[in-house]
Amino acid sequence: MTDRLRWAASAALAILGVLSGSWIGEVEAQTQSGEETQAQHGDPAKYLLQSPGVAVDRPENDYGLGPGYISQLEPYPRVGKGDLTPFDLWHYGGRLGSSFSSPVLPMVFDEWLTLNLERKPKLMRLVREYMAGRFDFNGRVIPGQTMSGGKAIMKGPIAKLPAGVASFAELGELSPEEIRERDLFPFLPLAHPLATTAHMVFPPAWIESHPEHDRIDVDFDIPEQYLPEFPPPMFLTTHKELGDVTGGREVTLGNYFEIFDGLLTPEQMEGLKELLRPTPTTWFNQTTHRITAEPNAGVSCFSCHVNGHTNGAIELAPDSRPNLARLRVDTPTMRGNYNLMVLSSKRSIRSMDHFAEVEEYFDGDPGMQQAIGPRGVQRQVTNRMGDFNSILDVPPAPKLGPTMRLIRSKATEQELRGEELFHGKALCSECHYGPAFVDDYMHDLQVERFYKGRPEGPIKTFPLRGIKDTPPYLHDGRLMTLDDTVEFFNLVLELHLDQTEKDDLVAYLLCL
Ligand code: HEC
Ligand code: HEC
Repeated sequence: MTDRLRWAASAALAILGVLSGSWIGEVEAQTQSGEETQAQHGDPAKYLLQSPGVAVDRPENDYGLGPGYISQLEPYPRVGKGDLTPFDLWHYGGRLGSSFSSPVLPMVFDEWLTLNLERKPKLMRLVREYMAGRFDFNGRVIPGQTMSGGKAIMKGPIAKLPAGVASFAELGELSPEEIRERDLFPFLPLAHPLATTAHMVFPPAWIESHPEHDRIDVDFDIPEQYLPEFPPPMFLTTHKELGDVTGGREVTLGNYFEIFDGLLTPEQMEGLKELLRPTPTTWFNQTTHRITAEPNAGVSCFSCHVNGHTNGAIELAPDSRPNLARLRVDTPTMRGNYNLMVLSSKRSIRSMDHFAEVEEYFDGDPGMQQAIGPRGVQRQVTNRMGDFNSILDVPPAPKLGPTMRLIRSKATEQELRGEELFHGKALCSECHYGPAFVDDYMHDLQVERFYKGRPEGPIKTFPLRGIKDTPPYLHDGRLMTLDDTVEFFNLVLELHLDQTEKDDLVAYLLCL
């Protein structure tokens, strides 16, 4: 527990220990990962008598991470539903518990409700302190720049620099090894504020108009100013002449027909309706296994991908266990999905129909389905959801020509310098190119070169077309502004850009 920021988690656990006694009791009872497996899984000599698998002695393969990397990570704390989890989850590694979860609450609902309502203000105080320790939410905007619907764009970088380094310029001159050794990396992974219960957390603007999604246990942790606009405009590939087809409204199950009749094909209309229809999820449902005070009809695709874009709602990526190893993911836009060959940060889903079919946030766990009911969306229906998804267009970018290069007469000197950097010294176009500024590969940015912790592994490249509309950035939203993103890549790609070059790049990104 020596590293910077660990104080936050340990302080949190200490304070909560005082505040609520047994809450963290189990955290203390840490179990070495893998320790219990021998007894649990029986004697291999006996249970595989019919076809014992071959086992050989191999030299340890460390992926180049350094010998004994896993032993430098801590075993995950044993935590139950609703228990506070450390905010520095990157410190942990290995396996824990079961792949399956239970749809049964650890107590009766009334107790669960009281417990959560009591804990929430304390938890949210800790969350706010943690976020304020990492980010300087100073409310500064980039003058004269707005998202497609008119919301101001925030100025950064707002990631706080650790004590021991005076400026991003100074940090940029240090090697990854030195930044790691001295614990100076300002862009550490961001955890879900309550990773044991986890699940969807909706931002304040959404909750205001959809109070049914107000959770009894946790609130959103990023200020509204740093999130996408709400409701966002919606552009259709089939109706460029109409601009924002919503007329500034949030599309709902109540108004979709009125807005889209005469614009869509019957298949698209049916797909849109299904994207708007709520279904029960792991924690938003009609049973007692829920985190809303009242029984809940569930969420729809557009509860997060509002108007086919995003409201910045977060969730844990569904592709890993234990739950504490799941990465926080913020909702990507659906705009321009028609140009993507790889969907979701790690699952590498190859079609929008398939995505709609498997969307695991709702019911990924077969045990859960028994209780909350499966989504049961048939392939014919998910194909139609894909049909509608595929006409959601990217926002206008009037300075870009047909080959996605800046039109010289429309761009400023600074934007043109930014474009040159993007395609040259800053290396961006190595991975961000083509009509959507994306290469459709997963890349391992090896960010763990800069901090001591569990590597996040390969993540898909996200497209940059329309990027000004989708803060915060990176799969977990740890980069609150485009300025932070440029500082991040300046370190990760060891670019040694000066301040003018960084500003030029941001000016260019705002054109995309
Ligand atoms: C919690 C709010 C939430 C809901 C509800 C939701 N999504 Fe998503 N969606 C996300 C997040 C978060 C990701 C990123 C997942 C990842 O990176 O693994 C995502 C990713 C996607 C992607 C891939 C986009 C990309 O750029 O890779 C598609 C397509 C998609 N969702 C479609 C759907 C459909 C269809 C539904 C309804 C069946 C749905 N989503 C419901 C939050 C949500
Ligand atoms: C080696 C490939 C690679 C290079 C080079 C690269 N990127 Fe990326 N970019 C990625 C990947 C992969 C992600 C997603 C990483 C994640 O979410 O953890 C990403 C994410 C981003 C995002 C966030 C997108 C979002 O929707 O959250 C921005 C902005 C971005 N890159 C801009 C840049 C800029 C600017 C440069 C040049 C300075 C650059 N990238 C260079 C691969 C690359």
